[in-house]
Amino acid sequence: MADRGLIFACFGCCCGHTNNGAARIVRPALRRAFDAAGLQGRMRFAFSECLGPCSEANVVFVYLDGRPLWFKRINTPDLFGALLAYAGAAVEAPDAPLPEQLAARSFSWTGGGLGPEP
Ligand code: FES
Repeated sequence: MADRGLIFACFGCCCGHTNNGAARIVRPALRRAFDAAGLQGRMRFAFSECLGPCSEANVVFVYLDGRPLWFKRINTPDLFGALLAYAGAAVEAPDAPLPEQLAARSFSWTGGGLGPEP
């Protein structure tokens, strides 16, 4: 069965680096969190170069069943964990609501999304 979607954690010029004010991202920790979430075979996870909205670092882009979702300031392991939990729920039930902490960080950018542009 093909993956249903993609999760791109930005690790470009600003995301993941404290020199520009974002929280530091430890890539192996995010990878371990993804692996532990049991999403392999349903979602693909990758790190990307700059996705564009650097002012919103740390940015994570989710593309699930043709639906783009952008998240800003995913600065803690708990927030990334909430995003993975939401992705897992949305794979099972596409209408699963965004939890409050993610809805507050959802924005629109290239290709769409939920929420205002930055
Ligand atoms: S470095 Fe992440 S959006 Fe530019």
